[in-house]
Amino acid sequence: FSLKNHNTFGVDVSARFFAEVTSSGELLEAINHSKTQSLPMLFLGGGSNILFTQNFDGVVIQLDLKGVSEEIINENEVLVTSKAGENWHEFVQYSLGKNYGGLENLSLIPGNVGTSPMQNIGAYGTEIKDTFVSCKVLNLGTLEVEEFNHEKCRFGYRESIFKREGKGKYVILEVTFKLTRKDHFIKTEYGAIQSELKKSGIENPTIQDVSKAVINIRQSKLPDPKLIGNAGSFFKNPSVPMVQFLEVQKRYPEIPNYPNGDLVKIPAGWLIEQCGWKGKQIGNVASHQLQALVIVNATGNATGKEIYDFSTKIIDSVKEKFGIELEREVNIV
Ligand code: EPU
Repeated sequence: FSLKNHNTFGVDVSARFFAEVTSSGELLEAINHSKTQSLPMLFLGGGSNILFTQNFDGVVIQLDLKGVSEEIINENEVLVTSKAGENWHEFVQYSLGKNYGGLENLSLIPGNVGTSPMQNIGAYGTEIKDTFVSCKVLNLGTLEVEEFNHEKCRFGYRESIFKREGKGKYVILEVTFKLTRKDHFIKTEYGAIQSELKKSGIENPTIQDVSKAVINIRQSKLPDPKLIGNAGSFFKNPSVPMVQFLEVQKRYPEIPNYPNGDLVKIPAGWLIEQCGWKGKQIGNVASHQLQALVIVNATGNATGKEIYDFSTKIIDSVKEKFGIELEREVNIV
């Protein structure tokens, strides 16, 4: 079964078996079947943060659980629960359509709701941990449904328990967010949002205005995976100790940086661009010409291995020039 249309990189690998499940019953059936056949399982949401470097000799289970429900808590707050298989951006737009605030800065992020807690998706000053309340997961060991509250998810920058200790142990079934109904908390500190709003002459933006601004910014510099295969940011932005940062800053006074506790966060895109990678293509793979942090399947014919090797070359050259080790953000299979 070809997975080409099930990963946003558009890598042409195959799975031995493929199952699309639309209910928890079907999910359990697929899991039990795989277990009895001793077949490895891989759970897929939107396929937007994954790089397949080889064929998968097992069962790929695509989670298509759908549905959104809500519970009004008071005049200003509502709990909105979405099943894992809802498309993230459509869910954000649905909330904005009801004038529920909190997710607007996360507009147009690819992927599904069910995978959003895995890497605590974030953009333009917001992360899902800011509105996340809880999620229901299926424990693959016991096959019982469990609830994970905020604390139990152990969110960090592009991190959660589901990428660490819990890796491969749970399937996220649904996620609940607490959103605002009227006293919206508008987050426009991010420079790009401010200039975008200014361009449109908006002084007191609504949550819908913020969403539109974010959509414009993203569309202006992030490649649309439907047109050119990619998985968004390929690397995390590294944080380094202050002493190490000052060292590098001596050599590169213009280095952009953000305080991050005792550490200093540096945009990986800048480091990569400084190494001459921005817009550079090797074979079928390139670093995007408008945002060096994004690796693209430039010709549509790249293999996962080629993309992976390209990313290794970037890691090596950043390490050589700056002494900083980039970490991949995308899951490698
Ligand atoms: N920069 C460069 N060259 C580049 C790209 C970036 O010099 O080619 C420098 C610039 O100095 C720029 C700074 O990096 O001011 C920050 O760039 P940007 O605002 O594009 O943000 P980012 O740090 O590169 C992160 C997220 C994005 C998210 C944006 C906006 C990570 C790994 N990535 O990128 O997430 O949209 O902030 O909040 O944290 C994604 O994960 O798919 C993704 C796109």
